[in-house]
Order: sequence, then structure tokens, then C-alpha cells
Amino acid sequence: MRKHVIAGNWKMHKTAEEVDQFMEKLQLNHDEEKTEAIICAPFVYVKDMASQANGSKLHIGAQTMHFEDRGAFTGEVSARMLVDIGASHVIIGHSERRMYFGETDESVHKKTVQALAHHLTPIVCVGESLEQRESGETNNFVGTQVTEALKNIPKEDLVNIIIAYEPIWAIGTGKTASSDDANEVCTHIRSVIQELSDEDTASQVIIQYGGSVKPENIKELLEQSDIDGALVGGASLKAESFQALIEASNA
Ligand code: PGA
Repeated sequence: MRKHVIAGNWKMHKTAEEVDQFMEKLQLNHDEEKTEAIICAPFVYVKDMASQANGSKLHIGAQTMHFEDRGAFTGEVSARMLVDIGASHVIIGHSERRMYFGETDESVHKKTVQALAHHLTPIVCVGESLEQRESGETNNFVGTQVTEALKNIPKEDLVNIIIAYEPIWAIGTGKTASSDDANEVCTHIRSVIQELSDEDTASQVIIQYGGSVKPENIKELLEQSDIDGALVGGASLKAESFQALIEASNA
């Protein structure tokens, strides 16, 4: 049985004071056998949040990383640095990184391998544009993104990767994919993982849906056969709504 994994993606939001208020307000009482709760914060808040979350049911992650350990890469942050300050997860290849910061399938692959090498759980994002959906290319396009990200990764590591399926047109727009449509793509993703490994491995991989997920629609999404959680932007910013997402996932 796969767990539910709910990850907040704070993007470029919050001041230090707002982070403290969030952490003070949040009261997580879920069963960790059933649900995992993560907030992926801006780099500058990760260390403080990880120490405040220590001993609680909240895990802290980052929103990107570099694929090298160290070197002359001004402005970048490595997986070993993230682990060093208490991060347990990292988002890789979010569509905003692909769109505005030149992230490619190749860099996504290198970062995924590097995160795994440091025991940092990668949340690898894939998803199609509206144009691709309308022209019927969704499964092909997303399947290629998954194959390129995961190629040559051994089976025993694949089970430590989370895939987030996020149709670009559903991010921050209030338009959620219908739970049937979202599930259809997540089922396809699982079949692609099975081709890269085997049925047992593919059945263990956590696949999240992302794009305008809210406390009101999470239940229906999680009822689907291949949706195991959510990557949540806007609705993860308030402690009340993040907590409501976790509670709904744990019911
Ligand atoms: P949203 O963002 O929940 O605000 O649509 C999701 C994401 O970009 O991960």
C-alpha cells in the first residue's frame, strides 16, 4: 500500500516572520503510516524550518538544487548543502524552472541522480502545456519526460523517487484537471516506470497530482487508483489550509 504524500511548494513567497507564524500555527496530528507532510520552502528558510520541525510530523524540502556537489557555480545550492541543513526532499524540474530558468530533461536527470546519491528524496515534476493536451500529445510528452528523468536509475532507487504530474495549464489558474483525466496520465506514468523497471517497482512509486489542489478537491483526487498525493502551491501557504489538506489525506 502506498502512502499519501502531500508537499507544499511555497515558491517565492513569505518573510521570515510569516514563516514563524506558519510554523507556530501548524498542528499536525496525522498518522505517518498513512500520510507524509512536506513543505518545500525558499532556500533561506530551510535551515530554520528544519530545526523548528525537528521531532514533529513535518518534513522540510527545497525547490531546486544543482547537480554538482561543489564548485564555481555562483548562486547555486547543492544536494549536500541541503542535507547538511536538514532538508529531506527537493523539487526537481518544476515547470516554472523549465520555463524561466532553462531546466531541461537532461538537467532534471542529473539532479535526480545527485539527490538520490545524497539520500534527498527528489520530487520530479512533469506535465504538458494546454496546446499539447489539446493536440492529444499528453501521454507521449509526459512519458518522454519521465523516461528521460529516470533512465538508467536502478530499480532500488526508483522507489525513492516521487513523481509530480502537474499539467502546466492547471498551475495557479484555479483550473484543476478532472480527477479522471489526472488519473489517466498518472496511470500512464506508472506504466512508463514499469517499462523502465518492473511491476513491483512501479507499484511502489508515489505519484502526485499538482495544479490548483485545495482542501475541497483533494479527496476526490486521492480516491483515484494512481494518484497518491499532491504537490500544492497556493493552498499550502496558509497553515489552516495546509493542515486541512493533510487531514483530508489522512481520513
Ligand atoms: P498551485 O501550484 O497549487 O498554486 O496550482 C502547484 C505547483 O506549481 O506546484
